Amino acid sequence: MRIFICGFGTVGQGFAEVIARRSQFLEERYGQPVRITGAMDSRTYVLDRDGLDPLDLVARKQRTGRVGDDEYSDPTAVLDAAAYDILVEVSPTDVKTGGAGLGNIMHALNDRKDVITVNKGPLALRFNELITLAKRNKCKFRFEGSVGGAMPIINLCHENLRGENITSIRGIFNGTCNFILSKMDKGQPFEQALKEAQQMGYAETDPTNDIEGYDSACKVAILANSVFGRNVTFDDVKITGITGITEEAISMAASLNMVIRLIGEISDTKLEVGPRLIPKGHPLSISGTLNTAQIISDLAGPITVTGRGAGRLETASAILSDLISIMDERSEV
Ligand code: HSE
Repeated sequence: MRIFICGFGTVGQGFAEVIARRSQFLEERYGQPVRITGAMDSRTYVLDRDGLDPLDLVARKQRTGRVGDDEYSDPTAVLDAAAYDILVEVSPTDVKTGGAGLGNIMHALNDRKDVITVNKGPLALRFNELITLAKRNKCKFRFEGSVGGAMPIINLCHENLRGENITSIRGIFNGTCNFILSKMDKGQPFEQALKEAQQMGYAETDPTNDIEGYDSACKVAILANSVFGRNVTFDDVKITGITGITEEAISMAASLNMVIRLIGEISDTKLEVGPRLIPKGHPLSISGTLNTAQIISDLAGPITVTGRGAGRLETASAILSDLISIMDERSEV
């Protein structure tokens, strides 16, 4: 199986490392190696039909800031020159236009390649178009890590809960906001908590996307489309961020034995992100950078999942799970 990694930042490098760590397992499971035959960052690329050493790629990127020696102007021309079966699209997300990631995903699907992505912009803006294109071209298209990083949710709903009538999902889908609100619970000012979240590498390149609720809104749109079968985009989500939350509001919540958390809510009729009062001890009152989601369905009742919503190996673990699903499906054919 040949993989092209598009985007070689934290997640792309994490995925390369995971491929190195699981290479023996994958080769034993499928009787063939998983090879990275191409990689691209925002300026450079490298191709090798025989396979590149994943750890060499990571080392070169960390040493030089470049994944390859050659520069490109058109990423789709690089994809055309590459020999690959699965595109792993993990380039930086663009919530306004879908960015280069949208073009890369569409190009690969048009070329009848399978795609795995955690890129939220394309999914939040053009979900149904991408799914339709994938189905039309008989491509597998998976995106578990786009919501909640390592926290299982999309495939959990599709696979383990496949007989359920899921009526709602409420959750914390942004670790940066949850970290800030948890710090504010302890009396730390907003700005200082945001700076700490940025230093931890958790916040988006532009933290406005986190604190204004846009990142959570992307995830809400992705869940609405993928789990509830709705046809919505980011623009349909009613969004309130956390920038208006005062220290007084936090103290008032505490006096009622509550905390304020940024909650995303999805059902057949609801599509919202906003600060909510949550009783202390409730599953959605968690602190720190964790993500969590409570899925309500008719037979199973409430199911709560919690996990790391971002991170190098954590997000890569979701990509690995999508890769194994695709390879399992392919080997059954
Ligand atoms: N900036 C995001 C967060 C990263 O804080 O949760 C994962 O999408």
